[in-house]
Amino acid sequence: MCGIAGYVGKKQAAAILIDSLKRLEYRGYDSAGIAIAGDNGKITRKRCKGKISNLEKLIRGKNLKGTTAVGHTRWATHGCPSDENAHPHADCSGRTVIVHNGIIENHASLRSALSAAGHKFNSETDTEVIAHLLEDVLKSEKDFLKAVTSAASKLEGSYALGIINSDNPGELIAVRKDSPLVIGLSADGNFIASDVPAVLPYTKEVIYLEDGQSARIKKDSVEVFDSSLKKIKKKISKITWDPVTAEKQGYRHFMLKEIHEQQRAVQETLLGRINRGDSSVSFEDFNLTAKDFKKYKKIFMTACGTAYHACLVGKFLLEDGLKIPCEVDIASEFRYRNPPIDDTTLVITVSQSGETADTLAAMREAASKGAYTLTICNVLGSTMTREADGVIYTHAGPEIGVASTKAFTCQLAALYLLTVYFGRLRGSMPVKQAREMTEGLLKLPLKIKKFLDEQEQATEKISHNYFKKNDFLYIGRHVNYPLALEGALKLKETSYIHAEGYPSGEMKHGPIALVDEEMPIVAIVNKSFVYEKMLSNIQEIKARGGKIIAIATEGDTETAKIADDVIYIPEVPEILSPILTSIPVQLLAYYISLLRGCDIDQPRNLAKSVTVE
Ligand code: M6R
Repeated sequence: MCGIAGYVGKKQAAAILIDSLKRLEYRGYDSAGIAIAGDNGKITRKRCKGKISNLEKLIRGKNLKGTTAVGHTRWATHGCPSDENAHPHADCSGRTVIVHNGIIENHASLRSALSAAGHKFNSETDTEVIAHLLEDVLKSEKDFLKAVTSAASKLEGSYALGIINSDNPGELIAVRKDSPLVIGLSADGNFIASDVPAVLPYTKEVIYLEDGQSARIKKDSVEVFDSSLKKIKKKISKITWDPVTAEKQGYRHFMLKEIHEQQRAVQETLLGRINRGDSSVSFEDFNLTAKDFKKYKKIFMTACGTAYHACLVGKFLLEDGLKIPCEVDIASEFRYRNPPIDDTTLVITVSQSGETADTLAAMREAASKGAYTLTICNVLGSTMTREADGVIYTHAGPEIGVASTKAFTCQLAALYLLTVYFGRLRGSMPVKQAREMTEGLLKLPLKIKKFLDEQEQATEKISHNYFKKNDFLYIGRHVNYPLALEGALKLKETSYIHAEGYPSGEMKHGPIALVDEEMPIVAIVNKSFVYEKMLSNIQEIKARGGKIIAIATEGDTETAKIADDVIYIPEVPEILSPILTSIPVQLLAYYISLLRGCDIDQPRNLAKSVTVE
């Protein structure tokens, strides 16, 4: 996903912007560029396809001087990755320069009108139309901020924009609609960025720009305006993340570091929320009364990718604990299928970033129909957390690897807490059941550590037996069926191996036809009430020559007799097992991808935060 950076300050901007852009690399990108306004007002643009290191080579020795600048990492939507399509984009005169994250839906009609009026386009992007549109507006409107907001009012779609102009030196205008943008404040100058890590080495004080708001940013001032250009006072948020938290800390990849952070991340997600005296749960930012909750007759959960898999586990938990029907939908489907929602519906969205376009749209659709919206989210101040009626934060910390790991286990932890919270509120969950769940949850962080200490090496070793295979199946039952889906997703996105997840009972209805000695099958066979059924399933696969990698409970000798390889997880109540079974599927994906030499933290074609539809 595109990343925006900008700076106006006392220091030379080039090095700062390159550093900020590198901190946005995790979002995924295919080209990068910067534009710097020199002291003479002239703006110099440098852009190129590929990694930021290419851009660094391009600007090396060019003596790019200037203290006002914008930069961008592009994730192609309109036009292929190329030098010409890389941002920043300029108007015909080169006096107005723009970086953009989002999609301009009416770009084609704007482009043809502007072309007819004589504007010359140099790229295939939707973004370039904004620069030319602004060029026209600036002919009659000399106030830079007013001109930007007037041009923005003609745009349909989503945008976060950073704009500089030769006639307004030392000034950066930012505006947003449906794409994230933060402003960083420091004594040495002020920043804009798509996300907080880009500004963290320079400041811990940020302002989150809301939809429809704009900002005039200078080296020693930041003014924020509402959609009618009335100046408004914004809250300054203090970021508690340490910049090193966002670095690899000695691990070869962020993904591995984040897998190892799960003990702490899950612990922090549980922290302060369980009252051991009465086994109740409370949340700092979310509170419903029993009376409020009584009116909800149905729950919908919606999300994308890994977060959707967390919702699938959540369905088991909520239906069991609340005795209320709970439906789970992929957000890109939910938003268009006109689901039956009214004010007796509770809609839960789950998202690491809080910016995923489909999930956000699904949430807005639910809100417009009168539902109560609750979001489970990892990013403080993200759009979903600002728009939802209620928020439960996962405290996973920044997740940089594109493949979601610690965010997932923390989403699961939050869903267990939510089940106890609602179950007690509704009176549908006996205290005994709440106690078993909360006490079991509190033991999980140490079990995660035990698993990593005792089984990581074994998992790495097992990966050597399978990394050359081209297809994998993942199977599981009940709460571990979603983990089969998640295991397959992790493997395909990081290693590019084709993988499918199935509920084990479905094998005989088709997929078992795929089984032969070339087909590894990862089977989640932990001790549970479906254990015997899982044993039968793997026996059927074994009889057809399939290779079985079992994820089993330690001490299980039966599974070892059937499976080719076994990864053991510590004993855990079945209902809580998904948090533990997540770790071996993540590690398998990681080590197989490592052996295949893949770009693990930034897999091809993927972005960390998918803020376009
Ligand atoms: O930020 P979100 O949790 O809303 O993101 C949803 C998906 O895009 C995300 O989980 C994606 O599937 C990951 N690459 C999975 O590892």
